[in-house]
Amino acid sequence: MSKVKKLQELILESTTLWDFPTQNYGDKPHGNNKYKGVTPAFVIWNLLQRYTKEGDLVVDPMCGSGTTIDVAKELNRKVIGYDLNIVRSDVKKNDARKIPLEDNSVDFVFIDSPYSDNLDYSDDKRCIGEISCEKTEFYDELEKVAKEIHRILKPNKAMAWLIGDQWIKKKFTPTSFLLYQRLEKLFETIDTICVTRHNQTSNTGLWHNRARRFNFYLRGYKLLFIMKKKSEEETAKPTKLKQKKIELEVAKERKVFEEKISAEEVARRIKKHEREFARKLLEPKPQETKQRRKK
Ligand SMILES: C[S@@+](CC[C@H](N)C(=O)[O-])C[C@H]1O[C@@H](n2cnc3c(N)ncnc32)[C@H](O)[C@@H]1O
Repeated sequence: MSKVKKLQELILESTTLWDFPTQNYGDKPHGNNKYKGVTPAFVIWNLLQRYTKEGDLVVDPMCGSGTTIDVAKELNRKVIGYDLNIVRSDVKKNDARKIPLEDNSVDFVFIDSPYSDNLDYSDDKRCIGEISCEKTEFYDELEKVAKEIHRILKPNKAMAWLIGDQWIKKKFTPTSFLLYQRLEKLFETIDTICVTRHNQTSNTGLWHNRARRFNFYLRGYKLLFIMKKKSEEETAKPTKLKQKKIELEVAKERKVFEEKISAEEVARRIKKHEREFARKLLEPKPQETKQRRKK
């Protein structure tokens, strides 16, 4: 690969459509392109460039073959990768629904979760990839992971979640939208990215022909939700003292408002009174009317 080509590849994405023809970039491996459901390394490279700086702590709660670990280390970020399926020694075994890190301690989280029970990652019964995305339970379990991500992230810091939809046995399940509904309860959306899919097993001539003949679509993309943990002021529950202060402030505002209304009301009544007074003053008196008639 020429130097020019390498430089071209390392340009930050500028639109919401990301299309990387290969899982890896550069000369060294990032993760393992043979791992089931491996993440394109460039997705993580783009995210770390935009949302982190050198020395920041990056966490991947489902890091599989360790793509996040490799990209983060190369960019001089601190990194912790967890998974239930351990394929390399620097990945820590852990269930993503309980992350062993302090509250507000992490600068960025990347996660590429299972998006149904289509891939067999491991024999671990806790694997969320054992649950079908057609069941509510799937989203309940992912929401537990989302709550942990929210807890460990520092306020105002970002996380990115990559997820695909499912079309199986003539049934479409909008997994990404259903997950998004859970995520938006916790996070504020920065943007959504469409990541083109290249390496799925159905990307063969046979499947493309079947899709045309039997009138269905092959999955062409995954969605990447980039979201931010709201600041402490936005999320903090008010203490009793703060609550009292808020109530006093509201009462004060209401009084001013009511006073304003009554001042306006007074002005309206004076105007009305003035009009009536003027009308009476200008109205001819009954005696004057008689005299005018005589003339
Ligand atoms: C799409 S793969 C991640 C691929 C990874 N980003 C990479 O580039 O290799 C999803 C991963 O989620 C893991 N996983 C599923 N349920 C989990 C859980 N409850 N806790 C931790 N990891 C889990 C699976 O073992 C699998 O490695």
